[in-house]
Amino acid sequence: MSKQMSHLDNIPSTPGKFKMDKSPYIHNRLRWHSSLAKLTFWSFMFLGLILIFFFRSPSSNPLPQDPSRRSLRTYNWGGPAWEKRVRSSARIRSRNGISVLVTGAAGFVGTHVSAALKRRGDGVLGLDNFNDYYDPTLKRARQALLERSGVFIVEGDINDSALLRKLFEVVAFTHVMHLAAQAGVRYAMENPGSYVHSNIAGFVNLLEVCKSANPQPAIVWASSSSVYGLNTKVPFSERDRTDQPASLYAATKKAGEEIAHTYNHIYGLSLTGLRFFTVYGPWGRPDMAYFFFTRDILKGKSISIFEAANHGTVARDFTYIDDIVKGCLAALDTAEKSTGSGGKKKGPAQLRVFNLGNTSPVPVSDLVSILERLLKVNAKRNIMKLPRNGDVQFTHANISLAQRELGYKPSTDLQTGLKKFVRWYLSYYSGGKKAAG
Ligand SMILES: NC(=O)c1ccc[n+]([C@@H]2O[C@H](COP(=O)([O-])OP(=O)(O)OC[C@H]3O[C@@H](n4cnc5c(N)ncnc54)[C@H](O)[C@@H]3O)[C@@H](O)[C@H]2O)c1
Repeated sequence: MSKQMSHLDNIPSTPGKFKMDKSPYIHNRLRWHSSLAKLTFWSFMFLGLILIFFFRSPSSNPLPQDPSRRSLRTYNWGGPAWEKRVRSSARIRSRNGISVLVTGAAGFVGTHVSAALKRRGDGVLGLDNFNDYYDPTLKRARQALLERSGVFIVEGDINDSALLRKLFEVVAFTHVMHLAAQAGVRYAMENPGSYVHSNIAGFVNLLEVCKSANPQPAIVWASSSSVYGLNTKVPFSERDRTDQPASLYAATKKAGEEIAHTYNHIYGLSLTGLRFFTVYGPWGRPDMAYFFFTRDILKGKSISIFEAANHGTVARDFTYIDDIVKGCLAALDTAEKSTGSGGKKKGPAQLRVFNLGNTSPVPVSDLVSILERLLKVNAKRNIMKLPRNGDVQFTHANISLAQRELGYKPSTDLQTGLKKFVRWYLSYYSGGKKAAG
């Protein structure tokens, strides 16, 4: 007993603070006890870490098995609470409503389309990888805007088949509005792989999942006016040649149109491609000229305005975002059902391509003059030769097909649309809390 007492006396009252004892027996026992305690402690820590990892991981395997997808970032998704949010966001709230998976929902066009669908009572679920091609805080601000109207954006990549399959398991989407892509013409020379990753591999991955979904959704997706490339016949019509892309971006969009044809032909997927012409407006993209001209004019920085050979005018068929949104909704509403099931085609399915433009190209120098008037600041113009890095001299849409089939009728001129953009820009970047990048 007294031995026991003396032993207990030697147990430190504060961990780590040992009273040293001269007896080798007690010393060894204490060392043994302490090692056992340490072992138990670290075993619990290790077990705890394994459990945390297990419960925070998605319900299905998040790690890409395919070595070509090793670069894929892993995102947290899955679990009952996450599924509940997915279901609630995609729930249809109007008679004859549709349920739409919008990829690229935190992007410029994706945000506007998602908000418009939600407003009319459709079910909407967003998907976006929030990449940093341009300031991700703008994407987060758009996400917050959508969240307030009840649209949940799942954070993930269109290359993640497990995630896409899970989404179709939770919701039987009737439609997919596919807007996720690597946009921008000039960036393709800096990071060509990102175009292949999102615009080709990602699109194929999405179509693979859609073709196996039951029921198969109808798909509307964003192609681009850039597919007309070096075509000189104006205005650009859907029947014109599109085999001379001037940039890798354009080539990946053109590849997308061919890939769409294949999935329609083999699997009976209903597919509609929309060739957007230079979309602009509030919540726009900071990498586009109207946006960074505004920023630079306000900062007093000089802006580069391109001209073609022999002082040729560079012009764009600028299209206001609200007109594009109407075109997207009309494409969704007129899309026929896909005809396949169980990954097999059961009959011919719809395959369409439409120009969505404004039909009135405006010289870029006129765009600058409008901005000068709206901002009440004179621009420092630096006229430069159009570099051969993917930009074309002009774009001009023939929209008669979209007019006929979709009832598409753009109604906002550049002056009116830019006024709305500038109002948004000044309010978004006011107060100095967000620097205009
Ligand atoms: N804005 C235009 O003038 C214009 C013109 C022609 C075509 N388009 C096409 O319209 C679509 C929408 O363009 P936008 O202007 O809204 O561009 P955006 O860059 O603002 O939006 C695209 C969104 O997709 C996301 N994304 C990119 N790769 C992804 C991936 N692998 N997985 C998940 N999300 C991914 C991005 O984070 C981004 O939020 C794009 O397909 C674009 O190529 C746009």
